[in-house]
Amino acid sequence: MSMRTLADHVLDIAQNAINAGATRIRLRVEETSEIFRFRVIDNGKGMDPPTLERIFDPFYTTRDKKIRRFGLGLPFLREAARMTGGDVRIQSEKEKGTQIEVLFYPAHIDCQPIGDLGSVWFSLLSYSPNIHWFISRQYQEDEYEIDSAVFAKMMRRPDDFYDPAFLRLMKESLQELEDSILGIG
Ligand SMILES: Nc1ncnc2c1ncn2[C@@H]1O[C@H](COP(=O)(O)OP(=O)(O)OP(=O)(O)O)[C@@H](O)[C@H]1O
Ligand SMILES: [Mg+2]
Repeated sequence: MSMRTLADHVLDIAQNAINAGATRIRLRVEETSEIFRFRVIDNGKGMDPPTLERIFDPFYTTRDKKIRRFGLGLPFLREAARMTGGDVRIQSEKEKGTQIEVLFYPAHIDCQPIGDLGSVWFSLLSYSPNIHWFISRQYQEDEYEIDSAVFAKMMRRPDDFYDPAFLRLMKESLQELEDSILGIG
């Protein structure tokens, strides 16, 4: 059985937005004991209707297959969401962007574990310093927001994104936000 987590799916879908050439990406995760819902809105290249019809076909990809592409992100995601009684909804417009909304029922016995969203935020922000990210995360009654411009402003030099000390600081602040909302630490 797969050891994937819901956080891995969030990462996959956000990576699709990066791969679509987006410069602004909004990501929202809402979690209660009943639902786990996430939404990714990007201003990337979008999809035309024929592409949209094929994206849930296993192994469908428009990316270069020579470089480790499987085209399994969306089919696996939908399968995993439907197993819990949830689903995936996609709206997209060519040259405008894409919105994906995913619903899981975390109390369902077949639901994958939630996983670590703090490390997802870090992977995304550190991997794509030129993308403007707006992340909003809601857990029960609490929520926090991350605007990647805050980290861009903290940089003293353009190559700070390759500085281990800067990256550690970024990782720790993102993890602290997530831990505080979960009531850890
Ligand atoms: N946000 C998006 N914007 C534009 N096209 C998208 C977006 N998300 C998915 N697609 C299209 O759907 C295809 C299938 O996506 P999927 O995540 O299943 O596979 P992949 O990203 O190509 O490969 P892998 O996830 O294995 O790296 C992509 O190749 C792309 O053409
Ligand atoms: Mg993908």
